[in-house]
Amino acid sequence: MNALGEEILQRLDQAAACSEPGAGVTRFSFTAEHRAVGALIEGWMQRAGLETHWDDAGNLVGRLEGEGSDHRTLIFGSHQDSVRSGGRYDGMLGIVLPLVCLEALREQGAALPYPVEVIAFSDEEGGRFTTSLVGSKAVAGGFDAEVLAMEDADGVSLERALREFGADPGGIPALARRPEDVRAFVEVHIEQGPVLETAGQAVGVVTALTGIERHRLMLKGKASHAGTTPMESRRDALVGAAGIVLELDRVCRETHDCVGVVGELEVVPNVVNVIPAQVRLTLELRSPEDAIRVDARKRILGEARRIAEAHGLGLDDALVYEQSAVSCAPWLIGELGEAVADATGERPRELFSGAGHDGLAMAGLTDIGMLFVRTPDGLSHHPDEALAAEDAGVAASVVLSLLRRFAAACR
Ligand code: GLV
Ligand code: MN
Ligand code: MN
Repeated sequence: MNALGEEILQRLDQAAACSEPGAGVTRFSFTAEHRAVGALIEGWMQRAGLETHWDDAGNLVGRLEGEGSDHRTLIFGSHQDSVRSGGRYDGMLGIVLPLVCLEALREQGAALPYPVEVIAFSDEEGGRFTTSLVGSKAVAGGFDAEVLAMEDADGVSLERALREFGADPGGIPALARRPEDVRAFVEVHIEQGPVLETAGQAVGVVTALTGIERHRLMLKGKASHAGTTPMESRRDALVGAAGIVLELDRVCRETHDCVGVVGELEVVPNVVNVIPAQVRLTLELRSPEDAIRVDARKRILGEARRIAEAHGLGLDDALVYEQSAVSCAPWLIGELGEAVADATGERPRELFSGAGHDGLAMAGLTDIGMLFVRTPDGLSHHPDEALAAEDAGVAASVVLSLLRRFAAACR
């Protein structure tokens, strides 16, 4: 099985070359890098015997018809995009690994009695437009056309980016699948945290995925001379932003099961001797309990308004993305657990995901299951993100076992 693990890692290295220059992998959605990695993936899909097409949400879809009477499709997939200077395994593993498994089955002459698809979703990280899950929401029927107006840092709208990529945003509603045509969605992903490494296990089964919300905040003060403006009459937008960053950190530290970050900050005019006139910042909150997240939001934004007022600042807040937490289907947790036991001889560890995944969107369509793979040092969203070939091989054995279990259930 290590041969499959080596093959998976070798393909992931190839995919990592489809990146903007710089440290790690930078591959945003609807870009030349997206197109380049799609060409590689399409070749791997065809090698595994899948029919391929690009859809109007920028997803690359590969489909293998079943040789049997069960028409319900088992969908595998994950996202092709990365964060800026991210790693080579986040997302891409969930595309490459099932393709390597399907190719191995094809080489053995083993046909499946049900259809299987592997989807390389266009956007999960939201690194370009702040909104996220564009591709998987389209397939799941949860796409909100309002996000088409959102713009990237260069002022390009999502609608224009899709058109320039060759997709027709008007075709997105028709991409929604019918629940009765789908058996389940299964995503293989690196854990991106320390649980499996600490437990000494190569793979684990996910029970639930975090809820996430993102805001874009704008603080408006007044630029003025840094030497002559008295401290008490300054309207320094960055001082207000600093207060909000600290408040978010305080609330999240005090709140069980809640994490948050201000990940982006843009200061205008960003000049050494000018009082900052404007700060644009993002705010992200996550929790497995939606009520905890919403309560934290209210406390942070309430305090943000107080801080803005105290410093004579204007404050605009736009909630640009909100996704509820979802649970994995108990029957799939069970099936994946059995498949792990088949492959490793051990009962798997069950764990919660603090990261967002395409499964969040796909849960609106069908039952979802996720297999996590051990991540050295729990490090992700970093150029040094790693994966052992041996662990990828174990995960491939689990997926092969799962495919066979479903086939047995069809007979
Ligand atoms: C994606 O990896 C996320 O959790 O933001
Ligand atoms: Mn990620
Ligand atoms: Mn991911």
